[in-house]
Amino acid sequence: IRVVVLYGGRSGEHEVSLKSAASVFRHLDRTRFEVIPVSIDKEGRWQWNDLRSLDQAQTTSLPILPNAPEIRLAREPDGRVALMPISAGTMDPLEIDVVFPVIHGPLCEDGTVQGLLELADVAYVGSGVLASAVSMDKDVAKRLAEFAGIPVAPYRVLTRKAFVQDRSSSLAKAAEGLSLPVFVKPCNMGSSVGIHKVKTWDALGAALDDAFRYDVKVLVEQGIDAREIEVAVLEGETLFASLASELNPNAHHEFYSYEAKYLDPDGARVDLPAGLDEAQMERVRLLATRVFAALECSGFARVDFFLDRQGGEFCFNEINTLPGFTSISMYPKMMEASGVPYGELLTRLVDLARD
Ligand code: DAL
Ligand code: MG
Repeated sequence: IRVVVLYGGRSGEHEVSLKSAASVFRHLDRTRFEVIPVSIDKEGRWQWNDLRSLDQAQTTSLPILPNAPEIRLAREPDGRVALMPISAGTMDPLEIDVVFPVIHGPLCEDGTVQGLLELADVAYVGSGVLASAVSMDKDVAKRLAEFAGIPVAPYRVLTRKAFVQDRSSSLAKAAEGLSLPVFVKPCNMGSSVGIHKVKTWDALGAALDDAFRYDVKVLVEQGIDAREIEVAVLEGETLFASLASELNPNAHHEFYSYEAKYLDPDGARVDLPAGLDEAQMERVRLLATRVFAALECSGFARVDFFLDRQGGEFCFNEINTLPGFTSISMYPKMMEASGVPYGELLTRLVDLARD
């Protein structure tokens, strides 16, 4: 079975994807799968990379080779889908069975690539177009979760258009009914790119200016005194929710930022399983499967919650339909701790895609 590991991508999480893909590449079962590395560079070029001589054990970021042949997906006369070279003679057409998109963020995880794979008629791992799109949009995802009865923290939505047209009334609307601190987040982003913790109202404008560099829609969320709890969900005969984990960003990080996640080796302490009582653990696992179902996800997803330290209730924060698979990423770790080892997890995901 030929599995394309798709990596890179045209998003702010390109580098995270290279790390996720290195782990996936290393852990896919070579006795069952022939692994075909296809990169998407920051300009959007798709390339087939011959990584046969790569030292997998030493590789933490999957490389995009300088002279890798550019390819496109095409249907062969027999109906199978193949990687076709754009320039003749650079490689032979290569028939493929499944695509594993190990890419994160807009134009990767948001239904766009999934739509292309639907059009090409090739099986792929993870959620389809609809679930990918609504899950990437933090506003729509929260609305659907709320509609399913799952609590979310209060937030406001601003559009770039309104902000540019009337900055002061947008600032007033952003603050309405919220108290400090608030979090400013690009609506469609991941890995905390473009997120700001705002502790004085004077700082709100600059935070919004920056967040609007990444998206036309920005959320201003009520900061709550909360613990960060994550759950990994995997489809099977019934939906399986892993043990929950807790992320404790180190005190010198204001929150679980991009730096705390990927740049600082001591950025956060992870408790796996999270220090929850039995009822809390059951509740958050149930909520995770309910979010997964409400957003009509398939395959797998990581669902992130806040546990309000005062009220004691879980709030849905966000969902990741292509969660990180880097060596420090929580999805595979939570599955492993719940009895599904990394290699077996990947096999299950590929099998689900082919069903
Ligand atoms: N968006 C990153 C990759 C994550 O959720 O793990
Ligand atoms: Mg995310």
